[in-house]
Amino acid sequence: MIIYPGTFDPITYGHLDLIERACHIFSTVVVAVAENPGKAPLFTLQERIEMAREATSSFAQVRVESFSGLLVEFVQAKKCRVILRGVRAISDFEYEFQMALSNRKLAPNIETIFMMPKENYSFFSSRIIKEIASLGGELSEFVPPLVERKLKEKLSQL
Ligand code: COA
Repeated sequence: MIIYPGTFDPITYGHLDLIERACHIFSTVVVAVAENPGKAPLFTLQERIEMAREATSSFAQVRVESFSGLLVEFVQAKKCRVILRGVRAISDFEYEFQMALSNRKLAPNIETIFMMPKENYSFFSSRIIKEIASLGGELSEFVPPLVERKLKEKLSQL
């Protein structure tokens, strides 16, 4: 089992690419949606979970759950020892390095594994997708149709 944590605000094709790669290696992939109030997400926790569930419904090995508080506590509670993170570019490295080493300090028995999403997905993030959506840009290359719909719906309510 491996745990793939993130804010998933919203889940994108980049995240899904990583999830698919993890499914080829691990028997169970738990997508752990962080409450993460510090990031002031656009979507509620429930909305982010629902989008992640629908977007991963074709992967039998994937479970979507949520957590608040420390990631390592969630990982330990699941009796898991491995965290998955994606690195898209060198610019991700410093943040990921800090996070992996902090998590190791908190829980030395938990390892973080890094995978690279497909190069087509290496330049965008949820923030950029939200910006494109808010300016009425084309989203079909970045997110599944259901997420595109939810983004448009959400932004029209703001
Ligand atoms: N393809 C495309 N984009 C990707 C991606 C991929 N494969 N992987 C990540 N991203 C993007 C995300 O969309 C996100 O974009 P945004 O910042 O514009 O919203 C960004 O990269 C990184 O976000 P994400 O992967 O969702 O991680 P995060 O940094 O928001 O979440 C947590 C980090 C939730 C895992 C971390 O804060 C955490 O563990 N929190 C719990 C508290 C805790 O334990 N703290 C101590 C940890 S050191």
